[in-house]
Amino acid sequence: MDSKSLFKEDNEQLLNDHKRINHWHVLIVNQDKKFHQFIEEGLKDIAFEQKGITWHHAYSSIEAKQILCAIEHMAVILLDTELESMDSGLQIVQYIRNELHDQNSRIILQTSHPETFPYKQVMLSFEINDYQIKSELTSYKLFTSIISALRSYRELLVMEQNKNGLKNVISATSEILKEISIHPLIDTILGQLKAILKLQNTYTYGSLILQKSKQELQVLFKSGVFQNKLIDTTNLFSPSIRQGLDDNLSLIESHTFLMYLGEELERHYFIYFNVGRELTDWEKKLIEIFSSQTSTTFKNVCLVQEIDRTQREIIYTLGEIGEMRSKEIGNHVKRVAEYSRLLALRYGLSEEEAEIIQLASPMHDIGKVGISDIIMNKPDKLTDEEYEVMKSHSLIGFNMLKHSERPIIKAAAVIAHQHHEKYNGTGYPQGIKGEQIHLYGRITAIADVFDALVSDRVYKKGWEMQKIIKYFKEERGKHFDPKLTDIFLANLDAFLKIKDETD
Ligand SMILES: [Fe+2]
Ligand SMILES: [Fe+2]
Repeated sequence: MDSKSLFKEDNEQLLNDHKRINHWHVLIVNQDKKFHQFIEEGLKDIAFEQKGITWHHAYSSIEAKQILCAIEHMAVILLDTELESMDSGLQIVQYIRNELHDQNSRIILQTSHPETFPYKQVMLSFEINDYQIKSELTSYKLFTSIISALRSYRELLVMEQNKNGLKNVISATSEILKEISIHPLIDTILGQLKAILKLQNTYTYGSLILQKSKQELQVLFKSGVFQNKLIDTTNLFSPSIRQGLDDNLSLIESHTFLMYLGEELERHYFIYFNVGRELTDWEKKLIEIFSSQTSTTFKNVCLVQEIDRTQREIIYTLGEIGEMRSKEIGNHVKRVAEYSRLLALRYGLSEEEAEIIQLASPMHDIGKVGISDIIMNKPDKLTDEEYEVMKSHSLIGFNMLKHSERPIIKAAAVIAHQHHEKYNGTGYPQGIKGEQIHLYGRITAIADVFDALVSDRVYKKGWEMQKIIKYFKEERGKHFDPKLTDIFLANLDAFLKIKDETD
């Protein structure tokens, strides 16, 4: 089922920041002290949406600017046109809109000189929201204009917060789209949820990443208040969250929500969040939007991983065909893959390139499928003629793989072709030397020979380490690339670790 449809539909008016503001800030800018008193007294008990007004008083342009810089959410400004000069008020309007870039504060311009500041001209030329002639002011007019200014200020905050919330969700979505494997993806989703809900204090919220397999629930990761706690999943959840976990559903409650991410290899993944405060309707909407995107991304990542796994399995299976024919036992191709990857990384190649070599090197002996059974199975030493036929496996392998445009198969073609070339030019099939041999070929040559020497075979025991080191030192610059040989010998422990783990 689509997770989007699982969320509670909520078409109520979207919530806004003003619910988190305890009162409205209103600034009076006027040189006349009595005028300040007149306004404050006239609007003494005024409250809008259960929030009172905090009054700020400025008697000069400088004071007005200082207060405007200090107070972040100034809802309304009652601004006299005349302060130090006749048009000081209009200069403050420019200052608010153009220098502070505050387009939200509602400005009510008040004047004693309607003839100097005619309402039509002033309203059209300046970014003000209301115009009053001071001599005509009554309590009734003041009240209606303040309330309507607060109302439109609140609407602006709603719009702004909606815009910011959506911006967060969009950037969160682009972050999660970058992930290509499941665990980092879940980490990113968790981080983005915290950003969307503006959760910074780890003592106020708690989150869990949960994995369910065969009805067994496991906590993979804890953060916030859950971090250092022993979590008992049998008692932690409300009945509806518990139901969501049973039925693989997402749902949002007043303080908590459960996000069902999806399924991978019969394991279901969830994020459980206790926000530690009431979620606003707008936050619920944002979680819902984000959640529908994450479930799609999760599915895509699973799909990519599935393709990746299948591709690797096919590659190893292909490699094993060659391995079987050459009577290699155990995980020869897998170890060659790991050795090649390690050598590539220590040589300084990128993760991406090291991965290409890792995936391509198992196919080095794939050409052996083209060598007859008589030669492949011959227990005795091969004649010179038979040995020549055996050597052709590198060219056969190359011909099998060379037509592909895929980077891994292209690399495999090079490796199949060149893994028996020697640095001094005495190898086959082409007898090329030094850096004429592709780096991938030089890397795989070391990996392949090392594994052949170090592993036990039916017909022989693996060589002692000292003998192997001596051999590589002797063949440095002859069979093997000297630089790669040095890297290999310097990191021998890591190669032996791979051998022990992959045996
Ligand atoms: Fe080979
Ligand atoms: Fe091999």
